[in-house]
Amino acid sequence: MPKWSLNFRLWHWLHAAVILGLLGTVFLRKTFLNWRTNSEIIVSKLAEQGVDITAEEAKILAKAIRAPMWEWHIILGYGLAVLVVWRIALFFTQSGKRNYQDLSKETLHKRAVKIGYIVIYAVIAFMAVSGLVIHFYDLIGLTKERAHDIKEIHELLYNALLVFVPLHIAGVVIADATEEKGIVSDMINGGRV
Ligand code: HEM
Ligand code: HEM
Repeated sequence: MPKWSLNFRLWHWLHAAVILGLLGTVFLRKTFLNWRTNSEIIVSKLAEQGVDITAEEAKILAKAIRAPMWEWHIILGYGLAVLVVWRIALFFTQSGKRNYQDLSKETLHKRAVKIGYIVIYAVIAFMAVSGLVIHFYDLIGLTKERAHDIKEIHELLYNALLVFVPLHIAGVVIADATEEKGIVSDMINGGRV
C-alpha cells in the first residue's frame, strides 16, 4: 500500500504551488509593485521630463500598474478555497489521516510537527474564508470598515505562513538527510508502508 495516495500527493503539490504563488503576490505587492514607492518614482521621473502630476494622480497610476499582478492573488485564492475543501475530503482517506493517528505513541518532536500541521490547516482555512469575505464584502452586505478589519486579521495571520513555509521545507529536507531518508521522495512517488 502506498504511504501517500496519488490523490493526496496531487493535493500536496498543488497546494504547495498555490500557497507559494499567493506568498509571491504578497511579496510583489509589498516590494517591486508597492504603490507608495512607485508613485514617488512616477512623480519624480515625470518631473524630470517637465510633467507635473499630483501625488493622488501618481497613486492611481501606481495602483493600476499593480492591479494585473494582484488579480493573481484572487485567482490563486479561489484555487486555495477549492484545495481546502479537497483537504477536508481527504481526511476521510487513509493518507489524509496518516499523520494524525495515535499521536500519543509519537516522540515529542513528531507530535509538535503534527500539531503544527493542524494549526497551519486552521490558519489556511481562515485565510481562504476571510479572503473570500473581503473580496465579496459588498455582495454579502458588509461595510467597507468591517471588511477592512477582517483584512487586518487576514494580513496578520499571513505571518504564520511566512514562518511555517520555510520551516516546513527546511524541516523535511533535514529529516530526509538524517533519520527519515526518503521522506521527500515518498511525497513524490507515494512511498510504501
Ligand atoms: C516545496 C517544498 C515542499 C516540500 C519538499 C514538502 C514536503 C513535504 C513532505 C515530505 C511532507 C510529509 C511530511 C510527513 O510525513 O510528516 C509534507 C507534508 C505537508 N506539507 Fe509539504 N512540502 C513542501 C511545500 C509545502 C508548502 C508550501 C506547504 C504549504 C503550507 C506545505 C504543506 C504541507 C502540509 C500541511 C503537510 C502535512 C500533510 C498531512 O496532513 O499529513 N508543504 N510536505
Ligand atoms: C495563504 C493564503 C493567503 C495569504 C498568505 C494572503 C495574504 C494576504 C495579505 C498579506 C494581504 C494584505 C496585503 C496588503 O495590504 O499589503 C492580503 C489581502 C487580500 N487578500 Fe489575501 N491571502 C491569502 C488568501 C486569500 C484568498 C483565498 C483570497 C480570496 C480569494 C484573498 C483575498 C485577498 C483580498 C481581497 C485582499 C485585500 C486586497 C486589498 O486591500 O486591495 N486572499 N492577502
